[in-house]
Amino acid sequence: MLRRLHPEQPDSFAFTPANQEWAEAQITKFPEGRQASAIIPLLWRAQEQEGWLTRPAIEHVSEMLGMAYIRGLEVATFYFMFQLQPVGSVAHIQICGTTTCMICGAEDLVAICREKIADRPHELSADGKFSWEEVECLGACANAPMAQIGKDYYEDLTADKLRELLDRLAAGEVPTPGPQNGRYASEPLAGLTSLKDQDSGHTQYNASAQLAVDIGDTVKRIDGTEVPLLTPWIGKGANKDAPPAGTAVKRDPKMAPEGPDGKPGGRSAAAKAAPRDVGEASDKRSEVSGEAPEAVAKAKPPLGEVSGGKDATKKKPAKKAEKAPADPGRKPSTLETPRDGGADDLKMIKGVGPKLEKMLNNMGFYHFDQIAKWGKDEVAWVDQNLEGFKGRVTRDSWVDQAVKLAAGEETEFSARASKNGTNKDRD
Ligand code: FES
Repeated sequence: MLRRLHPEQPDSFAFTPANQEWAEAQITKFPEGRQASAIIPLLWRAQEQEGWLTRPAIEHVSEMLGMAYIRGLEVATFYFMFQLQPVGSVAHIQICGTTTCMICGAEDLVAICREKIADRPHELSADGKFSWEEVECLGACANAPMAQIGKDYYEDLTADKLRELLDRLAAGEVPTPGPQNGRYASEPLAGLTSLKDQDSGHTQYNASAQLAVDIGDTVKRIDGTEVPLLTPWIGKGANKDAPPAGTAVKRDPKMAPEGPDGKPGGRSAAAKAAPRDVGEASDKRSEVSGEAPEAVAKAKPPLGEVSGGKDATKKKPAKKAEKAPADPGRKPSTLETPRDGGADDLKMIKGVGPKLEKMLNNMGFYHFDQIAKWGKDEVAWVDQNLEGFKGRVTRDSWVDQAVKLAAGEETEFSARASKNGTNKDRD
């Protein structure tokens, strides 16, 4: 299938202020000269905001990253996850049509899409609410046939079930993702035959469906103000001066240990020199092609006027992102042991599972009121010293949650966790 820009394009694109802030923060994750590595998340956020990728959006992102427009276009047209034409205002339905799903009834699902949305893929329904396409295996073959709707998977579908899902989405509901035939995950339909211990940490839904429910952005357009899961540093009470949670550097297994020992951590020289993510691999391609990543450009024509091979010039990043230095913070006061009455169940804090609870206990934190007292500096210290989970305090707004829990109130998460079990299967 040819993937081309849609013939009708808007005049301009701009991120919402919050998305712009998010995008600039993403760029700081990459070393100087490697900003192009941020293209996938930035294009994705543009699509999350608008529903599809317009030419002005691709150009805007390319300019932010100092890339030739054609390079941005190459990425946008290569990956099927990017929609190059308008999609339904409510949802874009992606039906898996690969072998397992095909054998199990994908053609019936496509027939429903043709009946209820539009005869041809990528066409909008008459009311503009839906669009659909057939895609290749989405990796949920054990729950075939399935469809991705918005960002989430709806599995074990039948024609009737898909029809019902579309009706509910059209009515403004967001049906719970995951298996639609009563299965919890991908266990045998007749029930588990082994590992039957149901006490082993089940949440109400399986992990991915539960996360989808928790985040709640299955078919939502993202404007960047969603807190705390999507843009935690914008959240109430978040440390505006701290680097965004997303800027946390992945630890290299070879680097010297940095742990909750009261000392701020740092990357080893070897780790600093090592590539941090696959984005750098793509930059290697420009090295092979002889293009200096920092090559600067003059004005470029819009994408439609670019001809192949004439893209050697590059623009300077529209706005150079500042790198936020790691804040060593200040170690909060700790306890040797829990107070009388025992430790609080820190897993009632969203984002804290058994591993993190144990880690917190080992650091001397046992009670909600200890966490509730953390200020900006203490949060920075703990965020730096959560081995393997850096940035979690800020990302999940632990302090805000702990304030409520320490006062004997419930949070939305703790209420649900009390009913359905805590984050046992999380970190
Ligand atoms: S064949 Fe459909 S998810 Fe793999």
